[in-house]
Amino acid sequence: MILGIETSCDETAAALVTVDGHIRANVVSSQADLHAQYGGVVPEVASRRHLELVGPVVREALGEAGVTLDDVDKVAVTQGPGLVGALLVGLAAAKAIAWSRRLPLAPVDHLRGHVASLYLEPDPVEPPFLCLLASGGHTLLLDVRGYEDEQVLGTTLDDAAGEAFDKGARLLGLGYPGGREVDRLARDGDPAAYDFPVAQVPGLDFSFSGLKTSLLYATRELSADELDARRADLAASYQRAIIRALVGRVREAAAQLGSPRIAVVGGVASNSELRAALPDAALAPLPLCTDNAAMIASAGRFAATLAYPGYLGLDAYASR
Ligand code: KG4
Ligand code: ZN
Repeated sequence: MILGIETSCDETAAALVTVDGHIRANVVSSQADLHAQYGGVVPEVASRRHLELVGPVVREALGEAGVTLDDVDKVAVTQGPGLVGALLVGLAAAKAIAWSRRLPLAPVDHLRGHVASLYLEPDPVEPPFLCLLASGGHTLLLDVRGYEDEQVLGTTLDDAAGEAFDKGARLLGLGYPGGREVDRLARDGDPAAYDFPVAQVPGLDFSFSGLKTSLLYATRELSADELDARRADLAASYQRAIIRALVGRVREAAAQLGSPRIAVVGGVASNSELRAALPDAALAPLPLCTDNAAMIASAGRFAATLAYPGYLGLDAYASR
């Protein structure tokens, strides 16, 4: 049994996953409401909240799985990338638990964690595959060749796809985090109402900052009443442009690689239009798209593991 811990951003999460990939517990305590008042994640506030929540969340996961720490064979924890203060809370908790039980510890890369959301039962996907990882912090096209072996084919030159959703939501006067709100509102709108641009960047990279500026200009021209009337159309058109950019690049990369299996992971993988646009793809299960610890425990099955007590000096990293 692997205990996974994830605290890289604003979700405090703990999970128990068996070595053969069955989820026994997956507890996520989101701080989204706490940060909503600021319109985004405040790193220092996040760290302090993780500190309060990490113990109870681990305890809750153990309870949900009906096990104790005696049943845990390994601790897996997100080492980076993310907010360093937030990461350090999870890392310190993981070290303390592992050290007190003389257990091994597997430091996990958060992005590999997202990919590893595909490796869990009941429908595990095996490498190789082409993976779109779209989250609030990253947009990556990965040629995944093995559990611990991937090549970056493309990345964003500016905003991540989830960030584009969140910033767009803000311009539309929706709450934080905005991706889910845009997704919901877009269902009532006309995606052809506005012709938002899909950035033309060379290679397999992405760019979303121009799109965000187009939305800014479109909303600026509207009075408050007009914005109310057009909000759903704006959301639908804006979402359509993001999804087109993502799907277009995925198709191009797939053609270059000779039609591999396609997979989609990360918070934006929960977007209904994206899921519908890639019916042939392996899509991360909805509860495992946004940040969680089951994906971290999953990656911990394959990651290099440090024996007791060789991990006590481990540090977190903010970026890859
Ligand atoms: O993977 P994740 O939980 O955190 C990071 O590692 O960044 O992704 C969070 C991102 C946020 O930007 C959020 O707005 C976006 O995923 N998101 C969505 C949807 N649900 C979450 N974006 C579009 N449509 C959704 N349904
Ligand atoms: Zn994430």
